[in-house]
Amino acid sequence: MIVWEQRDRLITLHTKNATYQMKVDGYGVLLHTWYGPRIGGGDLSRLIRYADRGFSPNPAEAGRDRTYSLDTLPQEFSCAGAGDFRLPALELELPDGSHAADLRYVRHEIRPGKYALEGLPAFFSGAEDADTLIVTLEDRAAGVSVELLYGVFEEYDLITRAVRVINRGEAPVCLCRIASLCLDLPRADLDLITLDGSYAMERRLHRAPLRPGVQSVGSVRGMSSHQHNPFAVLCDRDAGEEHGLCWGAILLYSGNFEAAVERGQFEDARLTMGIHPFHFRWTLGPGETFTAPETALVCSPGGLGPMSRQFHRAIRERLLRDPYQDRPKPVLLNSWEAFCMDFDQEKLLSLAGAARELGVELFVLDDGWFGRRNDDTTSLGDWSVNLEKLPDGLRGLCEKLRGMGMGLGLWIEPEMVSEDSELYRAHPDWALCPPGRPHIRSRQQLVLDFTRPEVREYVFRSIRAALEGVDIKYIKWDMNRPLAQVWSPSLPPERQGEFYHRYVLGVYDLLERFRREWPQALIEGCAGGGGRFDAGMLYYAPQIWCSDNTDAVDRLRIQYGTSFAYPPCVMGAHVSACPNGQNGRTTPLETRGTAAMSGAFGYELDVRELPPEEKKLISRQIAEYQENYDLIRRGDYYRLSPPGAEGVPAAWAHVSPDRREALVSIVAGPAGAARPFRTLRLRGLDPALNYLVEGDGRSWPGDVLMAAGWPVPSMGEYECIRLRLRAET
Ligand code: DGJ
Repeated sequence: MIVWEQRDRLITLHTKNATYQMKVDGYGVLLHTWYGPRIGGGDLSRLIRYADRGFSPNPAEAGRDRTYSLDTLPQEFSCAGAGDFRLPALELELPDGSHAADLRYVRHEIRPGKYALEGLPAFFSGAEDADTLIVTLEDRAAGVSVELLYGVFEEYDLITRAVRVINRGEAPVCLCRIASLCLDLPRADLDLITLDGSYAMERRLHRAPLRPGVQSVGSVRGMSSHQHNPFAVLCDRDAGEEHGLCWGAILLYSGNFEAAVERGQFEDARLTMGIHPFHFRWTLGPGETFTAPETALVCSPGGLGPMSRQFHRAIRERLLRDPYQDRPKPVLLNSWEAFCMDFDQEKLLSLAGAARELGVELFVLDDGWFGRRNDDTTSLGDWSVNLEKLPDGLRGLCEKLRGMGMGLGLWIEPEMVSEDSELYRAHPDWALCPPGRPHIRSRQQLVLDFTRPEVREYVFRSIRAALEGVDIKYIKWDMNRPLAQVWSPSLPPERQGEFYHRYVLGVYDLLERFRREWPQALIEGCAGGGGRFDAGMLYYAPQIWCSDNTDAVDRLRIQYGTSFAYPPCVMGAHVSACPNGQNGRTTPLETRGTAAMSGAFGYELDVRELPPEEKKLISRQIAEYQENYDLIRRGDYYRLSPPGAEGVPAAWAHVSPDRREALVSIVAGPAGAARPFRTLRLRGLDPALNYLVEGDGRSWPGDVLMAAGWPVPSMGEYECIRLRLRAET
């Protein structure tokens, strides 16, 4: 619900549990007055204090009033150069060379439904479940308008924000920095939570109190990155899973980003999220508009658990455009960890046949099927099938798989080129590299200039030709190196700062074309595992390979961190062989199944030679996943006990929306002597219901399971327990 109160010039946005408010003050400055637990209304600007603060300047309109300063007042959208020295959401270079835009309110508009963003990912509304607010600010002297877009999803408890900058003047204006989120909070006694890591160890949770000054995470790698995720939380210092006030923000963007927080001099905090300013400079000609990527916000008065569940539900129902939204995703087997690039049709079919016997429904042919790709030094860009390996082509392979009752999925890496490829020999200038410089390689490959429509067109056509007549069910879109040596011959020197963003727009453009061309195919995002695991990608690829690290124990940490922002059903998760290829650890097959079942489930190992008892176990796991699919897909996710705590098993639960069913998973840590007895307190159940706990055989009242807990039996190293709970009446 969006409410405009003319008398006080207040705009208030209400979601189920939160209220957000801004006010146009006497000078036309748009002040941010509240984002917190839902309240009835009223003018929250009464919370703002005015004081004469040294070195905080006063705008001309304030005359001799030294208590009015943009530097101290909470801003709805901060702009650099006009007297607010805190983190700016916008920095413009105006035609006269100054960086001093000053934005004032002009008008606003409230509309039913949610705005859309052309060429960019965005949450969408269903029938009447969202409203849009557009507030227009203007710098009259510079002829620049800024439209602040808000999408209010009341039931989802979600507010989205995006920004359009429009040059209404006669000369070009340059954007040097743009963030769609600027959130001023009147306090700084807060913790900052971010998801950070590295290749094969992505999105581990980090939490620390705000320190004075600016702290930020971001990426300048041209992708959202393994190192930091475009997600941040500010919360009460003592906020936990089910208590404390939290503000979560997700940026729907897959390129260079920055999430920055400033703890200000008067113990306030400002969070901004947007495009990273490194090598960003966008020239906006007269009449042109620039749209900044969307941010999604949740304010949870009841802790981190509800915050995550609100994001999960909104992402599942209002971001994923999943052809599998209403039907179960197939259980797949991916060829990569079984064969790498060393295969032929016979080997593939024998693996697929063995997998089919165990219940696998889709066979994904990973890297190595095209050109002369027998190792990673060659053939990227040459998307023609290697007939030595696959004499019947992809079509023949697909038909043979169909005969076995299996679908075909295929790996591609559209953004890349190998120097040893027909494509590179024909178009060396399509690979990124400033003139006169040697190539910087990563995994022996180069990046194609996706800002150029002809490059995207070529890639699209060659992949379409390879898939001609193939009933493709799944496409894994990989990306295995960061961008460096960024430069495009299609842009003049003064516009090279547009490259990174144009590259991301190019990726989105091609992804959208793929969706249109193969509407039945499930696209899985991937970037050397989870190097581009972000909400922007999820709009096009409704699941993303979470990490190249498939070790169950490491995966629990990665999936735990990921779950703060993203729902389990989007996390590609596979059971692989032991000892694990990334870290050499051996874990029970049952535990590998438990970890993978809490995501988009599949296998990635050679199942042909497994001992009969392991094959039987895999069949059982597949049946159990299929049986629990709805619960995992649509259920509420509860983090019961974080992985990695010494001597305490990791535990989590999927609870059905009606609270009548739950799947609880528990995984023990490393071996230890004299372990204490553990009792696991469940959450999310109905206290008034009795639950039959399968696997324990007993009936338990919901209130007992939540207040007292379930007695965890002693467990061996990395062993697991899965409990299925069903309400009895
Ligand atoms: C990186 C991916 O994360 C892996 O799953 C696999 O597809 C390889 N690339 C293939 O090159």
